Order: sequence, then structure tokens, then C-alpha cells
Amino acid sequence: MRITSIVGARPQFVKLAPVARALAGLCDHRIIHTGQHYDSVMSDVFFVELDIPRPDHHCGVGSASHGAQTGRMLESLERLLQDDRPDAVIVYGDTNSTLAAALAATKLHVPVVHLEAGLRSFDRSMPEEINRVMTDHTADLCLAPTLGAMANLATEGLGARSLLVGDVMTDILFEVRDALDAATTPAAPFGGAPFTLATLHRPANTDSPERLREIVRGLSGQDRPTLLLAHPRLVAKAAEAGVRLDVGNITVREPVGYRDLVRLVLSSSGVVTDSGGLQKEAFLLRRPCVTVRSDTEWTETVDLGWNALVGERPSDIPSALSSLSAPDTQETPYGDGRAAQRTAEAVLEFVA
Ligand code: UD1
Repeated sequence: MRITSIVGARPQFVKLAPVARALAGLCDHRIIHTGQHYDSVMSDVFFVELDIPRPDHHCGVGSASHGAQTGRMLESLERLLQDDRPDAVIVYGDTNSTLAAALAATKLHVPVVHLEAGLRSFDRSMPEEINRVMTDHTADLCLAPTLGAMANLATEGLGARSLLVGDVMTDILFEVRDALDAATTPAAPFGGAPFTLATLHRPANTDSPERLREIVRGLSGQDRPTLLLAHPRLVAKAAEAGVRLDVGNITVREPVGYRDLVRLVLSSSGVVTDSGGLQKEAFLLRRPCVTVRSDTEWTETVDLGWNALVGERPSDIPSALSSLSAPDTQETPYGDGRAAQRTAEAVLEFVA
């Protein structure tokens, strides 16, 4: 049995790691990398650190507008899938690579499994929302991370082809956290003083100079230092708009690999982000998080008191972070760390 995983962007490499491990030895598992992310800090470091097998094919599409990027992927993936003829493809998350892979496969009558199905922000201005809705409706099997995602799929008439497996990012997060060796943990930045860890990359936040300026002002308004791990989109857009990022007590660094990210979250006092994955990772590592968006797909983090949304008023970043109640909780809305195992079983059973 041949199963092909198609990935291309940073969060997908993280999701692929535990799934590739769970599928190893059970089928002929191949990997196609679209090339959406190509810098070593955005791609290679994840394959090396998380021990993901080298991709069997690399489409090398690179950056472009949405239409051009997705179109290039479609053309390249169609050719590769025609040659490889897998029994099913697995597509991950909500990026342009996810949508292109789902479309390319389904048009060739190759069954599509969507992992991390059913998440909704209900904000149709987000490219990811369009990608995930289209992919869920294209997929033959929707594997959902949460009960909320299952409910969304049922509401859209997709209940019969949906299955709850849990969140595979939780699997890998717990694994990496548990393997962190105190001896190799680098000294905390800022000499061990309390700090905020921040990331920012959503077009809605980076592509308007006014909005970006407001967020930077909010970040620098905190009374403790901020370490801003700057995604290439943020760096490019800030330079274009003449917005300085390293103002006040903000220190700017390149993005880091997954292990260093987990270490930094653990040594931080709190997180400010617009990333879906990082909101959830902050919760799972029990660090309060402020999300610079008006909505979230990971609503459990907000309901449980660990995440606050400040999309409407980024100037509220400091007050929101300091007033989060972050109560003790035993809730496990994202599963028990065995989602990849269930994913592998579900995929194999589906294909068989
Ligand atoms: C993409 C996903 C987003 C995901 C994010 C994680 C879509 C629509 N968005 O957003 O859901 O949360 O990845 O990072 O698929 N760039 C580089 N080097 C790289 C990659 C990107 O310099 O290796 C720069 C390019 O200037 C590019 C910009 O970043 O134009 C944006 O890249 P792109 O992949 O289009 O979207 P992301 O913002 O990374």
C-alpha cells in the first residue's frame, strides 16, 4: 500500500513528523515537499531536528501570489501523482500547499485524507479559512483534532466521513518537551529575566503598515523585554513599509527550530502571537498567550482562560497578558499525545 504525504510549509513539517513515524514500516509512505517554504530556518531544520525522512520529491515552487503559488503546485503535483499513483494522499492543515494537494489528488481520483480537518475561524478574509473549508469538502476522510472540529464538520454535512483522532501537534510537542535535556538548554535570553516570546506573520497583521505599527507599539508597551522571532514575511513587509521592529524593549531574531521554540516558550513568562500552532503550544506548556487576532480556531485555549484575543485593539497586548487568569486545569481538549497512532490506523483502515 502506498500513502503519500504532501507538505510545504513550516507547521506541516511539525504535523508530518509523528505521522511519518507512526506509518513507518506499515506501508510505503512517501513524502512530497511543495517548496512553499524553502529557507533552511523555515524548512530544513525541521526535517533534521524532528528526524523526518527526506522528501521523495521536491516541487520547488517558492514564493508567489496565492494564485501563482497554488497553480504551480497543482501542475507539479499532478505530474508527480500521475507517476507515483499512491493509494491515498494525506494533506495537512490549511496552507496553499494543503489546498493544491487536495485538488491535484482528487482530480486524479486519488483518495484524499485531510488531517486537522474541521477547524474554523469563520473569518473568510483569512486565506487559511478558504483553504481549510475547500480541503474538507474535497477530502474523502476528514481527521479532526477536537470535538469542536467534529461539530463543525457535522454542521457542514461532512459528519459521515469524519473521525476524531486528536491533535498530532500535541504528540510531537510532548515528545520534544519530555526529551529536552536540561544540560543542553541554552541560557534564557535577557539573563534569565522574565520576557515575552512573540511571533507575527498573518497577512492581516503584517501587510498593513498602520496595523503593523500599532502591534509593534503594543508589544513595546510591556514592562518586560520581548523576543520577537521574525518570520520572513514580517521582515519583508516591515522593511517595505519603513516600520522598525527593534524598538523599545523588543529584540528581533530569526525564526528558530522546533526544539528551541519549545525551550523558549518554557523559559518565557508569556506569548504574543498570531500563529495557530503557537497559541495551542503555549496552552499545552501552560504559558499565558495573547493572540493578535479577533478569532481563533483553538477556542478551547480561550474558554479555559489561557488565551486572550486582542485583534480589535493591539494596544491592549500588555494589559491582556498581565490580566490573563490562566487557571490550573486538567482538561485535555487536544488529546492524549497518541493522535498520530490513531491517524495511521484510520488511514490504513480507510485505504484497505
Ligand atoms: C504560510 C501559510 C500559513 C502558515 C505559515 C507558517 C498559506 C496561505 N499560509 O504563511 O497558514 O501559518 O505559512 O509559516 O499557505 N518566505 C521566505 N522564505 C520562506 C518562506 C516564505 O522568505 O522559506 C517569505 C516570502 O517573502 C513569502 C512570504 O514569506 O512571500 C510569505 O510566505 P507564504 O508561504 O506565502 O506564506 P506564509 O506567510 O509563510
